Amino acid sequence: MMSLPATIRINEVGPRDGLQNEKSIVSTNDKVAFIDLLSQTGVAEIEVSSFVSPKWVPQLSDADEVFSKITRREGIIYSALVPNLRGLERALNANVDKVSIFASASETFSRKNINATIDESIDRFRPLVEEAKKAALPIRGYISCVVACPYEGPVDPGAVRDLAERLLDLGVDEIDLGETIGVAVPTDIEMLYDEFEGLLEPSQTTLHLHNTRGTALACAYRALQLGVTRFDASCAGLGGCPYAPGAAGNLATEDLVYLCDQMNCMSGVELEKLFKAGRHIALALGRKMTGRVFSADGADTASGSS
Ligand code: HMG
Ligand code: MG
Repeated sequence: MMSLPATIRINEVGPRDGLQNEKSIVSTNDKVAFIDLLSQTGVAEIEVSSFVSPKWVPQLSDADEVFSKITRREGIIYSALVPNLRGLERALNANVDKVSIFASASETFSRKNINATIDESIDRFRPLVEEAKKAALPIRGYISCVVACPYEGPVDPGAVRDLAERLLDLGVDEIDLGETIGVAVPTDIEMLYDEFEGLLEPSQTTLHLHNTRGTALACAYRALQLGVTRFDASCAGLGGCPYAPGAAGNLATEDLVYLCDQMNCMSGVELEKLFKAGRHIALALGRKMTGRVFSADGADTASGSS
């Protein structure tokens, strides 16, 4: 039997990647309550919000206030996205634990998402990374469209590797591979990690999957077999990306936790507590959530109290 990692590490991205894509704007208090509930679950990191332009992502315009109101639990990393120096300044004021810059392996997506070519985005990130380093902040480097772009179609894994090298040269501490639109199947994940040979081991990357076509869990399993231990996932399957049409739903945290824990590849996350957080956000949004385990175990129909 192929051996799997003994443990995995989960970065909960629901409050950021999930809520940025919701049509309705969740109140600051509901976001804070959601994040506080997530802090009880055992996840290693919570991506709290984004310090981006409120004109581009109005759903997260209250990032500063959310950070000031959450109750931080020791040992958990509370991180946020920053697109430029202005975002970094806000993140520093909010006392974040880690910042994430986000680039794309596809030119068109880069323009649509951050209004910059890939080259321009690297130039924009350079001073940001320098300043973050001065402040001793860890820096994640996201790469979007690692398998396909919603505008350009399939993306060459070589382009993903090139961008990873450029981000590492800038000085990011970690690379997070974003399968932005949820088209990947396990062989895509294999090809991607094959391409990274000699640059980064699978265990040195984080994998960020979307479940648009129901293949995220299959990809996660293949990634586990290859040695990936760090995953982004989203409570109850919240998620998407406003600049990636059709990118509905991140890999649900409950689904990943269930899969891994059942295979003795321990997540350290308590499902019941995740359900509680999921119920809270489902009520705030007033809609059914897509996470399979969340629905199958009746978390979505339980009393509704959070
Ligand atoms: P721009 O319009 O080219 O830049 O946006 P700008 O400098 O002209 O700024 C526009 C306005 O926003 C100005 O306001 C700025 O002051 C303001 P105005 O003068 O018109 O009143 N502004 C800001 N306000 C607050 N905080 C800031 C900030 N920056 C500018 N940091 C920009 C360029 C990068 C700002 C914009 O494109 C942007 O914010 N983009 C972010 C979009 C986004 O968040 N997308 C989703 C995240 S990425 C993702 O989902 C993928 C991922 O999940 C992985 C995967 O799935 O692949 C990570
Ligand atoms: Mg995403």
